[in-house]
Amino acid sequence: MKFAVIGHPISHSLSPVMHNANFSKLGLDYTYEALDIPIEDFHLIKEIITEKGLNGFNITIPHKERILPYLDEIDEQSKTVGAVNTVLIKDGKWIGYNTDGIGYVTGLRQVYDDLESAYILILGAGGASKGIANELVKFVNPKLTVANRTMSRFNDWNLDINAISLEDAESYLDAFDIIINTTPAGMVENKESVLNLKNLNTNALVSDIVYIPYKTPILEEAENKGNPIYNGLDMFVYQGAESFKIWTNQMPDIQTMKQTVLDKLKGDRSC
Ligand code: ATR
Repeated sequence: MKFAVIGHPISHSLSPVMHNANFSKLGLDYTYEALDIPIEDFHLIKEIITEKGLNGFNITIPHKERILPYLDEIDEQSKTVGAVNTVLIKDGKWIGYNTDGIGYVTGLRQVYDDLESAYILILGAGGASKGIANELVKFVNPKLTVANRTMSRFNDWNLDINAISLEDAESYLDAFDIIINTTPAGMVENKESVLNLKNLNTNALVSDIVYIPYKTPILEEAENKGNPIYNGLDMFVYQGAESFKIWTNQMPDIQTMKQTVLDKLKGDRSC
């Protein structure tokens, strides 16, 4: 079987090395490559994929929404999020899925006991936030809280959540067991921190969906305060694992996938 990840730029994607390591470990004669398709060529997607004879593909920045009109079906999670990261090609039909949210939450379940009872705050209200929120509301008992800079962003949210401002999130921060940052705020070109952590509960887990850098500014700050932190590496691994399951109906070797990515990051000195 043949797979790929499509994006632009894509040369730094760790998906090929991660998936190919899994295929090798399972003794599967499958391939996974990176395909760079710039925005101006995206209208050729059907031709490109068909010519390659792919059985499925991942789709990443900047095409996760652009792919929607080309799909024959999309799953519930993709509908909620409005974006797709996994396409299965079955009997010539293109079926879209979004495994980012389940990827993040699957990882979080491994590191946080009793997630069902946790008071959770998500920072940001974009696609990533919505995907994670949509998974968490399925089983977390306390109502989820989502904070965003722009409140109108919640207008098209139809999930049962508390929508609050970033200022309120700062004031009530000590009420939360887990804080999940999905915004790019505080990153290199954008030094302004997304949230003042002054009122952070001493036991709260602070998380970010990013894993390059391995510790984002909010994670650094939380760690310096002595709080546990959790980055986006598992999210990346588990979203890939979920894609593999969708394509092949087989269980991946998660440990191999994660170790391969970690080794690569260490080689690149990103962690
Ligand atoms: P993604 O699909 O990765 O979630 P997105 O849809 O562009 O990306 O959403 C980015 C999120 O980060 C948004 O919630 C955005 O807030 P706004 O809705 O107010 O734009 C948030 N964000 C980006 N830069 C930010 C900053 N400097 N401070 C606070 N929030 C920021």
